[in-house]
Amino acid sequence: PKLLLLGPPGAGKGTQSSNLVERFGVEHVTTGDALRSNKGMDISDLGLEYDTPGEYMDAGELVPDAVVNEIVKTALEEADGFVLDGYPRNLDQAEYLDSITDLDVVASLSVSRDELVGRLTGRRVCSDCGTNYHVEFDQPEEEGVCDECGSDLVQRDDDTEETVRERLRVFDENTQPVIDFYDEQGELVEIDGEGTPDEVWANLEAAVEERL
Ligand code: AP5
Ligand code: ZN
Repeated sequence: PKLLLLGPPGAGKGTQSSNLVERFGVEHVTTGDALRSNKGMDISDLGLEYDTPGEYMDAGELVPDAVVNEIVKTALEEADGFVLDGYPRNLDQAEYLDSITDLDVVASLSVSRDELVGRLTGRRVCSDCGTNYHVEFDQPEEEGVCDECGSDLVQRDDDTEETVRERLRVFDENTQPVIDFYDEQGELVEIDGEGTPDEVWANLEAAVEERL
């Protein structure tokens, strides 16, 4: 199946995408991870504000559409079924997506603002395998060490309080209109993202199954 998972920063898109991958055998297509692996790429030929994706990301701003659209196009060409996470983030990207593929399910996770800030500023990620933890909600067995691979846990560069506020502002301005757009088309399934990860997953799994 072709699945799209929308939601603000910290809503649990990455966490729930892993469940979708396991349950439906789809490919995880995430622009955030793809860009983090290419933070230093030279995009100065675009002549825009910054010369690398990393500079946009550390400021909490959107990386230019030309860069992101290309990543998604290539990834979707290679994937049979997928869950798309972190894209589209503005209406132009949504229009581009519509021109290259169709979707079976569009779901969005909704979470209150205070909860989002707490999740993001408390998130820790494995410096090697990328597994997510949280200082309160999802602690590793040994403090600061990844359960999966034993590497150090670090804070993502864009998870500081100041950058988190900016990411949420950018979400309100650019990405909320995308969610409203799918809603107006009657395509959107809204999932309460506030329970435990297992509770959220139970609702999401049922909603996806019902629509396939
Ligand atoms: P990206 O990597 O996509 O970040 P994001 O959208 O801000 O989302 P996050 O990864 O922060 O959160 P998430 O919803 O996946 O939540 P998670 O499961 O990790 O983008 C980063 C940057 O890249 C952007 O700012 C932009 O610069 C650039 N970019 C990316 N895509 C782009 C695009 N399309 N166009 C332009 N630029 C783009 O969970 C968060 C935390 O909460 C974790 O610690 C987790 O353990 C915990 N948690 C999860 N679920 C629960 C729960 N139910 N209860 C309690 N805690 C929970
Ligand atoms: Zn690890």
